[in-house]
Amino acid sequence: MNILVVGGGGREHALVWKLSQSPRVGKIYAAPGNAGMAQLAECVPVSSEDLAGLLNFAKSRKIDLTVVGPEGPLSLGIVDEFRKAGLRIFGPARSAAEIEANKAFTKDLMKKYGIPSAEYGSFTDRGQAEAYIRRQGAPIVVKAAGLAAGKGVIVAETVEEALDAVDLIMGKKAFGAAGDVVVVEECLLGEEASFMAFTDGKTVVPMVSSQDHKRVFDADKGPNTGGMGAYSPAPIVTPEIERQVMEKVMHPTVEAMAKEGRLFQGVLYAGLMIHNGQAKVLEFNARFGDPETQPIMARLDSDLIDIFEGIIDGKLDSVPIHWKKDPAVCVVMASGGYPGTYAKGKEIHGLDKAAGLNNVMVFHSGTAGRNGAVVTDGGRVLGVTGLGPTVAAAIEAAYSGVKEISFEGAHYRRDIGARALERGV
Ligand code: AMP
Ligand code: GLY
Repeated sequence: MNILVVGGGGREHALVWKLSQSPRVGKIYAAPGNAGMAQLAECVPVSSEDLAGLLNFAKSRKIDLTVVGPEGPLSLGIVDEFRKAGLRIFGPARSAAEIEANKAFTKDLMKKYGIPSAEYGSFTDRGQAEAYIRRQGAPIVVKAAGLAAGKGVIVAETVEEALDAVDLIMGKKAFGAAGDVVVVEECLLGEEASFMAFTDGKTVVPMVSSQDHKRVFDADKGPNTGGMGAYSPAPIVTPEIERQVMEKVMHPTVEAMAKEGRLFQGVLYAGLMIHNGQAKVLEFNARFGDPETQPIMARLDSDLIDIFEGIIDGKLDSVPIHWKKDPAVCVVMASGGYPGTYAKGKEIHGLDKAAGLNNVMVFHSGTAGRNGAVVTDGGRVLGVTGLGPTVAAAIEAAYSGVKEISFEGAHYRRDIGARALERGV
């Protein structure tokens, strides 16, 4: 079977790595891929948002299955285009991907179907958003409704900050048309967790739980990033919380989307805030999380092609899905300056040595090949992932890999997984 994976980050490398283990796999292509994926797949220089280019490529190479990593192409309707052309593709259609791409739509959906989430108002009028903020007071959360590469959310401690956020989003248009509508939300307290499930629109199968580390520095200090690391399982997601989330969030959401004529087939990702044993939804994503996918793929013990096909064919209920008991931990190594500005093109040393270690997988994010060397090519550069019989062992494995790798300006958090250890697992 020939497979095309769309995307070029650590999530896609982890997917390619897992797909490459299937006895059913023939050739794997990645568009655009990265230097890590190039070891397992042929990278093709087509951007993940060039739908026409991707469609042409898939037709000309007789691709049997296309797998979409990022939200951009999903919200542009890549799945609809491929289906129209008779090609098999994994991911939600455009109307279903709106659950991530349009926060105002999703807040209304959750309200209509009683799915637990923060109180909110959504506004196209700036004055009304400002009046709502003054009425509600701070802390309060201001969000651009559209896709903003994870940057469109401002948790404001004061009314002033919240008004500035509205100015940034609606006045200065910092996120372009994504800020045409603004969602203003009650600020929830608690601990966050990522809850992902496979669904074919009827059957919903939870993945093992995970938690990412969004802040750039140890002890959750500094600005938010795309994610500096992740681990699985997340002890905060107890069996009781999992039952609650399946019953009150995942099943009702999948049913609601079907009722609204937006059958959701793919990975449904709920970003949760858990407080006093109650989970509320912060956001939905219509795709695998990054970096959560790296530790989760490290733990998957079933054939990923079977799962993707089960979803496409509406037969997920007949696909066995098993997980390794061993925890996994992914430590992101980032470029100097990230999440602010950073230089690219720094040569990376020690990759082979790290990848040769037992229970260590080095997933690439922003990397590129240059004259036979691997160089940095993005903010998040690598996701060094360790697997072990205990969380402590998985942490040790991941950091033993990190220790072997160096590039100018590299930085990473030293406390990935520490919160799981504190909870005594
Ligand atoms: P989102 O992309 O909507 O998940 O928001 C990004 C981050 O902002 C989340 O991971 C939380 O850390 C924070 N956040 C979003 N919504 C809220 C909320 N209602 N209350 C508190 N924090 C929030
Ligand atoms: N790790 C958060 C996300 O993938 O959106």
